Amino acid sequence: MPDLFSPFTLKDVTLRNRIAMSPMTMHRSVDGVMGDYHVMLYGSRAAGGFGLVFPEQIAITPEGRTTIACAGLWDDRHIEGLARVTRIIKEMGGVPAIQLGHTGRKGSEQKPWEGKRQLPPDHPPDTLHHGRDS
Ligand SMILES: Cc1cc2nc3c(=O)[nH]c(=O)nc-3n(C[C@H](O)[C@H](O)[C@H](O)COP(=O)(O)O)c2cc1C
Repeated sequence: MPDLFSPFTLKDVTLRNRIAMSPMTMHRSVDGVMGDYHVMLYGSRAAGGFGLVFPEQIAITPEGRTTIACAGLWDDRHIEGLARVTRIIKEMGGVPAIQLGHTGRKGSEQKPWEGKRQLPPDHPPDTLHHGRDS
């Protein structure tokens, strides 16, 4: 693999190598906000040498989260946490990427270890989840 560790340039972005970390949802956000856990995780991956680092899927609406603990970017209060994550990735020599997403009508469920496929008891009533088990 002679090219794996060589830089890759696309327009004005240059990766130090061709190794990318896939987005992997961690279910550790609170109300969509990314915190110290995300700074630690993605910063350490950049420090470990990934050229491109995707933080997990970032939901564009609260209903579009996979679970209620997914990261989001539907409100200005989400900016600071995501900015911290992108800043540490850059400081560690990586390039931050983003995956904007919406899980669809079956999204916004409970965390996997708290009974995924169940809506949390305090989930606001909405019309998006009709037929969710069909
Ligand atoms: C815990 C976990 C969370 C994941 N979350 C996402 C995600 O948020 N977005 C996404 O597109 N893929 C997600 N995936 C899929 C991974 O990004 C990746 O595509 C998958 O692990 C296969 O990787 P590979 O093609 O390198 O083998 C997740 C995978 C795992 C194991």
